[in-house]
Amino acid sequence: MSQKINRIAVFTSGGDAPGMNAALRAVVRTAAHEKLIVYGIMNGYEGMINGALKKLDVRDVGNIIQRGGTFLKTARSQEFMTKKGREKAFAQLQKLNIDGLVALGGNGTLTGADIFQREHGMPCIGVPCTIDNDLYGTDTTIGFDTAVNTAIEAVDKIRDTAESHNRLFFIEVMGRHAGFIALYTAIGSGAGNVLLPEKETSIHDLVETLKAAEERKRLFNLVIVAEGNKIGSVHEIAKKVEAQMENVDVRVTVIGHLQRGGSPSGYDRLLATRLGYAAVEALIDGHSNVMVGISNNQLKHTPMAYAIKNEKELNMEILHLAEMLSI
Ligand code: F6P
Repeated sequence: MSQKINRIAVFTSGGDAPGMNAALRAVVRTAAHEKLIVYGIMNGYEGMINGALKKLDVRDVGNIIQRGGTFLKTARSQEFMTKKGREKAFAQLQKLNIDGLVALGGNGTLTGADIFQREHGMPCIGVPCTIDNDLYGTDTTIGFDTAVNTAIEAVDKIRDTAESHNRLFFIEVMGRHAGFIALYTAIGSGAGNVLLPEKETSIHDLVETLKAAEERKRLFNLVIVAEGNKIGSVHEIAKKVEAQMENVDVRVTVIGHLQRGGSPSGYDRLLATRLGYAAVEALIDGHSNVMVGISNNQLKHTPMAYAIKNEKELNMEILHLAEMLSI
């Protein structure tokens, strides 16, 4: 029989994602409904180690549902990767009699939570927050939809100038290990090509496709390049392609951290609210070391280790569609 939960702590860690604040609001207010005491940990695992915890009440999370970033701040902690660092963190939580944790973040955050739970037995629920969408056990992660919309808006603007000058643009979007942002941005912006971490390709193939597009009188073109693609940096790719094509005017844009900020989309706010609520209910129901997610509109619990290690596959039908329609 699991022990009754009375005092929980919530934190955000790793790269921020639009919708984190909406999830925090849902966690704090659900906890209030359930008569739990809730602490916010500042600066992710760093704050856990340093004891930077403060009590949160329902008013502390007012007027944040629409805000990007995370009001609890975030960090990527090296010290928490060590056993000693995790021992310090556990001692800080014990001082306040914390008996459950809600971790908001991506792969690195949930990996830390998984190890922490195994070492110290602290019940912990993960809420998938990352623009990369690379966690198994949820159709989308909090922040992904907003990031894709931001990237598409940026590409629409680039398209205007690309068309005016008949230029070939290489546009880098985020995604170190996963091509979700790149693929969805490519399809949503009608880009001619997309380079993904999940698909082997070569400069030769890319040049052939671009030349074929030129022959079809496509006077300007957009290539979406995922950060973690298999060929190299967007600048190297652009240079190599330029060297192999005649009369082509090439430009490069890196959208970068613009994708991580901004007001969350309606979709992300809803997802964050449902998952923040689900995380607190999961702790109360005695669950531990699972990530909450939504699949086919159904709430789902996935063991943390599966969420992190099982690769979430890109839907290759979408890639096929993007390629087929970019004629
Ligand atoms: O994991 C989210 C992410 O935005 C990746 O897409 C990107 O590669 C990385 O974080 C950038 O990290 P940082 O903000 O630490 O430079």
